[in-house]
Amino acid sequence: MSEASEFGEIPPGVVSLGDWEAPARDRLDPGVRAYLAGHAGDGVTARRNRDAFLAAEIVPRVLLDERDAETPVDLFGRRIAMPILVAPVAHQGLFHREAERGSAMAASAVDTIFVASTLSTLPLEAIAAAADGGGQWFQLYPQADSGLTDELVARAEAVGFEALMITVDAPVFGVRNVEQRVGFRLPVELAPANLVGWARMTTSAAADGLAALLAGRPTWAEVERIIGRTRLPVLLKGILDTADAERAVAIGAAGVVVSNHGGRVLDLAPASLDRLAPIRERLGDDAVVLLDGGVRRGADVWVALRRGADAVMVGRPLIEALAVGGPLGVAHALRTLAEETAITVALAGRP
Ligand code: GLV
Repeated sequence: MSEASEFGEIPPGVVSLGDWEAPARDRLDPGVRAYLAGHAGDGVTARRNRDAFLAAEIVPRVLLDERDAETPVDLFGRRIAMPILVAPVAHQGLFHREAERGSAMAASAVDTIFVASTLSTLPLEAIAAAADGGGQWFQLYPQADSGLTDELVARAEAVGFEALMITVDAPVFGVRNVEQRVGFRLPVELAPANLVGWARMTTSAAADGLAALLAGRPTWAEVERIIGRTRLPVLLKGILDTADAERAVAIGAAGVVVSNHGGRVLDLAPASLDRLAPIRERLGDDAVVLLDGGVRRGADVWVALRRGADAVMVGRPLIEALAVGGPLGVAHALRTLAEETAITVALAGRP
């Protein structure tokens, strides 16, 4: 029997994050499927993200004295139930009629943080209205026009978002052949509500398009300017190099997200898990360090925490859950991952 409510449905047999993939593949049309599952180049980095976790080992510990295996975490003054955040994902209207509202409701229901993308289908104000007391952060793509960037940040502050996550690894769109092969284009009616004259997401690497994108690329100076203006804590997302991590903190960031954008930007980049420990070591204990890319199991969460992450973010599997199961599906997926994490703690101790 599947479990259904007005908030969505858990199909029979869906018991782990990976179980959402096949039903999502069946349900989504080929273009949207290619956009979601897509990666840069030949998908080497996307595979590396998973392979790094598959190569990890957890030595069990026996006769532990843990009575409580839960893993709540404090981030910027908010305690959340699990070290697992909902990663920013663009255009959620492609996947469910509730779009970002559905994912945000789910995050709030299981007491974790929803990160809203600059490229959200819905306006930031509508997403914030779904928070229901839960924490929300804003993922910022700095705009070519700083005035527009400042407006976005001001709106994020006004609606109560609690942190900014500035994505710095995608000054241009990656080589996205998976989408190109099926000719995926974002339907005009799903153009992101928060940007005017939106033109960034071109899958064409035409030279003039590239030059135009690069002319508007964010710089260290611009990111420092944004950090200096906002009252919110800032994380830089898309850091894999230790010197970049150090520089991020030196210009005032509270920390970094160790990420290769789910393997969607630069193919042959290393697995994010493989860059985590060196970056934590370089930044020390005070910085906030998150990781995304390849997290599918509670054991993966445990490994990431063990190697220095404060928390992880999950993207694609939660969108698959949204597409198939709606907000209930996303909540179920998050809860499943948190429970698996607790089971790992019970079997291997605190990371
Ligand atoms: C957007 O950031 C994407 O990777 O599709």
